[in-house]
Amino acid sequence: MKIYPLFRALLFRLDPEKAHQLTLSAVRLAGDIQPIRAVLQWIYGAPPRPVRAFGLSFSNPIGLAAGYDKDGLGWRGLATLGFGHVEVGTVTPKPQPGNPQPRLFRIPKERALINRMGFPGKGADFVLRQISRPRPKNLVLGVNIGKNKDTPLENAVEDYLFLLKLFATKADYITVNVSSPNTVGLRQLQERQALDNLLHQICAERDRLSQQATDKIPILVKLSPDLTDPQLDDALQVILANQMDGVIATNTTISREGLSTPVASEQGGLSGNPLFERSLRTVDKIYLRTGGKLPIIGVGGIFNASGVQRMMDAGAMLVQIYTGLLYEGPGIVKRIIHNLRT
Ligand code: FNR
Repeated sequence: MKIYPLFRALLFRLDPEKAHQLTLSAVRLAGDIQPIRAVLQWIYGAPPRPVRAFGLSFSNPIGLAAGYDKDGLGWRGLATLGFGHVEVGTVTPKPQPGNPQPRLFRIPKERALINRMGFPGKGADFVLRQISRPRPKNLVLGVNIGKNKDTPLENAVEDYLFLLKLFATKADYITVNVSSPNTVGLRQLQERQALDNLLHQICAERDRLSQQATDKIPILVKLSPDLTDPQLDDALQVILANQMDGVIATNTTISREGLSTPVASEQGGLSGNPLFERSLRTVDKIYLRTGGKLPIIGVGGIFNASGVQRMMDAGAMLVQIYTGLLYEGPGIVKRIIHNLRT
């Protein structure tokens, strides 16, 4: 008997953000109680399907995308749901409230969400304490970093460098988020000159850090699905020139193409099913333009094994899921891995 549809019907009667907080608190609690962890792992744990990417070993190709566990509260519990990696964040240096509520909307008919959260969070020191807790076996932990709302764009580099230094010894990889549509001006950091300046300094800081620590931490850049072809080309050239280790494609879209529901008029980033083809096209273009040289994490509208397969056929080495977890429930990773082509 499938119980998640029933549970989802109850959750979907709550305000979306309340429902999320409730779920995250339950997951956090579950992650802290060993017998519950063991039961969840037994129910939802996925068979190993190892992948090596940017120097790291993943137990399977499916990860949890950024934004679900912004403050690193639930990552130990989320690991029991079979994810090979979990990306916490986006983390900003200082705590900030994010945009006024309501700022998260469901579109069940389309299996989609619109959000304009604007990086609400408890700040970097809090997240650092959370991710310093004992690491579940075989879990790769990424930290996604972004700038505070009140940091002027011309000083954004300082926020990213501060966060890189803080998290470099605790995270397995870092994601530079320059593609969220909900922080004014952030996506301008994807433009050639701004991105080159940012990544040049990030690369130099990583080299400095690796002289002190032993390992050179992998750094990925998360891109928007709304870049034009020339913008994408520019971004990729700069990403390769500055020795970044990979890209995450994609963040949410501001496009509402094909959506006819009134909720579509809400401002923010669209995720879930309507995003899939757009993200897939972006992965495809990145693979072709970089000749497969740059590892890609495909994300956007993945709900099942066929979605994962298509992302991988387009060139993704790994994938991530957010909206699919809400609509499909905690069994999504196990189900996908069982149904993947061998
Ligand atoms: C996100 N996403 C996101 N991405 C990011 O880099 N930093 C963030 O803080 C957030 N926050 C966030 C909040 C909410 C409510 C949603 C729905 C999404 C984007 C997310 O990581 C992913 O790239 C997109 O949602 C596309 O994947 P799905 O949701 O279609 O699987």
